[in-house]
Amino acid sequence: MSMLTATVTKIVPLTDRVSEFTLHGKDLPDFAPGAHIRVQLPDGESRAYSLIRTGAQSGPPDSYTIAVQREDDGKGGSRFMHRLKEGEAIRFEAPKCDFPLDAAAPAVLLAGGIGVTPLISMATALEEAGQSFAFHYAGRSAPVMAYREALADRFGARLHLHCDDDASALNLDAVIAALGPAHLYLCGPRGMIDAALARAEAAGIPRDRVHVELFDNAQPVQGETAFEVELSSSGQVFTVAPGQSIIDALEAGGIDVLYDCRRGDCGICQCGVIEGTPDHRDVVLTADEKAAGKVMQICVSRAKTPRLVLDL
Ligand code: FES
Repeated sequence: MSMLTATVTKIVPLTDRVSEFTLHGKDLPDFAPGAHIRVQLPDGESRAYSLIRTGAQSGPPDSYTIAVQREDDGKGGSRFMHRLKEGEAIRFEAPKCDFPLDAAAPAVLLAGGIGVTPLISMATALEEAGQSFAFHYAGRSAPVMAYREALADRFGARLHLHCDDDASALNLDAVIAALGPAHLYLCGPRGMIDAALARAEAAGIPRDRVHVELFDNAQPVQGETAFEVELSSSGQVFTVAPGQSIIDALEAGGIDVLYDCRRGDCGICQCGVIEGTPDHRDVVLTADEKAAGKVMQICVSRAKTPRLVLDL
């Protein structure tokens, strides 16, 4: 993976918890709407942040823009970002897009909270392409919704703001009912994504017209218990502790596995389940696939039975 370095040249607070970071660097590659960079943290971990493009761009950019919400209960990535000062350098992986836009088709963009960031780039690209789109942006209340006013100015009647604390609150049924032939792009917290996927599935929207990126990393759920994972190829057995992912348990045991998002939305880590019942926590599989229990995303999903035998 090619690593890039950039200097944080500007930090702008957008809300109490969200700040925008401008990163200047040499030879920054162009990126597609929906792309993200992975910023390296001092502990060797990395965090993905979507790239924001609001204006025309011809050729490779000389800067990137990201917005980061401080998560005081998170794993530390956002706190690292919020401690950065202008003039400091950061390292990150070159942009990658797991959430591609088809600008040739009409679109409905639905953002929850800071999940708005990749959809801003998509709305910009759709506007440039002359494509029809609607942009729904939901949040708890107006003051915590970053870019709210700028987006209203920029996209006018195509932007629909939904605040949970007033009459504009998001009505998912209405959004799905108005979808028509458009593709649906979802980015936000798990609750919103799960609800939107369930309604889209119930309305018969083909899954290939629904595109998802989860904003949150998987958080431990209270009451999680340990379980065992057996690899069918070798018979090796690993214990997955509460709060630990199957991927982490396998890597700790020296097993290399393929993964990317580690949030349950890209499908890269999917593997077959030979025995046992998965506890699905991803947004990749349909309700029917989850019920069948034949495959699972091992970055986030766990087990309902004491042991899973995986096709690994
Ligand atoms: S790594 Fe993306 S779904 Fe598991």
